[in-house]
Amino acid sequence: MSRERLRAVRDRVRSFPDFPVPGVLFRDISPLLKDPVAFKALIDLLEDHLRASFPKVDVIAGLDSRGFLIGPPLAQRLGVGFVLIRKKGKLPGPTESISYALEYGKAELEIQSDAVEAGQKVVVVDDLLATGGTMCAACKLLARLKADILECLVVIELKGLRGAAKLEAIPFHSLLQYD
Ligand code: PRP
Ligand code: ADE
Repeated sequence: MSRERLRAVRDRVRSFPDFPVPGVLFRDISPLLKDPVAFKALIDLLEDHLRASFPKVDVIAGLDSRGFLIGPPLAQRLGVGFVLIRKKGKLPGPTESISYALEYGKAELEIQSDAVEAGQKVVVVDDLLATGGTMCAACKLLARLKADILECLVVIELKGLRGAAKLEAIPFHSLLQYD
């Protein structure tokens, strides 16, 4: 039952005030990853959502670093490949890069230029959407490679930061929402 699976996931997210800087309420998915039943429930929910929403997905793209924990098991379930969107300086060969603002700080993302082919149907996966800056930057990289972005998919959405609005017309879905 999906309500029970969702509760199993929600129960394994814990919150830490003032981390990593004062004023940020950090949503920590470590207990979720540590609990095999809850982690399986998470991947089940994401798989069900994608199968119900899209007849065909070619690639799952995951965001550095926590998107790398969720994207690969999901890609395996769907029988598709996984590609990395990494923080700057980690990927060899020709890359596309873009800088962006975080809820706390600034960063730069990169993708290998041959990571996806033009027209491939991509779902972008991460653990959490806060300001939406990271996801938005990732979508811009994928757009440069002419990917067809089906959806941005996250476990946790921090609604108060209105990150989904930053994605404009790109479809977005979150499993859990926090104010
Ligand atoms: C966190 C989180 C998202 C991003 C969300 O990653 O995992 O990727 O911030 O924030 P935003 O919506 O305001 O852009 P972080 O950059 O802290 O890196 P990490 O996953 O390596 O901890
Ligand atoms: N990334 C950006 N904001 C975050 C938050 N509040 N909790 C966990 N990860 C985050």
